[in-house]
Amino acid sequence: MTGQRTAPADITAAVIASFERAEDERLRTLAQSLARHLHAFATEVSLTQREWDEGIRMLTETGDITDGRRQEFILWSDTLGLSMLVDALAYSLPPAATESTVLGPFYVPGSPQRPYGASIAEEAAGTPAWIHGRVLDVSGEPIAAAELDVWQNGDDRLYAVQSPQAPEDHLRGRFTARDDGSYAFLAVRPVPYTIPDDGPVGRMLAATGRHPWRPAHVHMIVRASGYLTLTTHIFDRDSDYLGSDAVFAVKPSLLREFVRRPADDPERPDGVHGEWFSVENTIILAPGDDAAEPVEPGRTA
Ligand code: BEZ
Ligand code: FE
Repeated sequence: MTGQRTAPADITAAVIASFERAEDERLRTLAQSLARHLHAFATEVSLTQREWDEGIRMLTETGDITDGRRQEFILWSDTLGLSMLVDALAYSLPPAATESTVLGPFYVPGSPQRPYGASIAEEAAGTPAWIHGRVLDVSGEPIAAAELDVWQNGDDRLYAVQSPQAPEDHLRGRFTARDDGSYAFLAVRPVPYTIPDDGPVGRMLAATGRHPWRPAHVHMIVRASGYLTLTTHIFDRDSDYLGSDAVFAVKPSLLREFVRRPADDPERPDGVHGEWFSVENTIILAPGDDAAEPVEPGRTA
């Protein structure tokens, strides 16, 4: 039997055409573009059967390791820089507004409400760090009653959700800005830590000569009615790994100085003994109507 032979490009064209009848225009665009780029990738690298078998194995393991606490798919998105890219494409904030960064898998909704200046540490967790500042709009006016939802790791590198012995509310809390926009809480100086690297993402990092470390940071979600919800970090500007964050989440504007303060400093917060740090962190929210909350985060225990 004779006939026209089928070229790789014919397969690509057939797949793209198969989505032509999708009624939802956006879905059609997404599906066709995905097919085009996926096929272009395979064509460009002349993907072998053995390599694609390995790819399928990696995807299968990603599904197998993912459950209610561990979310390996989000970890792929984070380590491929896709989480940061999607965030950057979704929000073009005014230049004055505080920049956003990745949510990460350790956010747990429903943190306890705590009063101005309270500690988020329910047990010893590191050197105290007094984090304070104001929540302002882009013209410098205070945003009273803005909510700051904060969480961080301790000096054992772990978030409470990763540590079976830690109290549930350890190292997290919600604070309300006062009438002048001011807020303060007692945290601990965060330390660098590794993202979960005992699964397929960890193997990808090792195989490609990348490390799993994140620079020291404190997480924050800031919400206020009439403003875009801000998901961000405070990065310790003296931390290691600022230039090679495993999830590409460092933005220079988010670096802050953790100022070393002596034990006898008259501004020492109540309950603090010995050396401590202070961090000034002004937050500027962009106007907007944003009911959006982080999607149910994939926890990585
Ligand atoms: C985090 O900062 O908690 C985080 C972000 C992305 C991946 C893993 C951890
Ligand atoms: Fe983190």
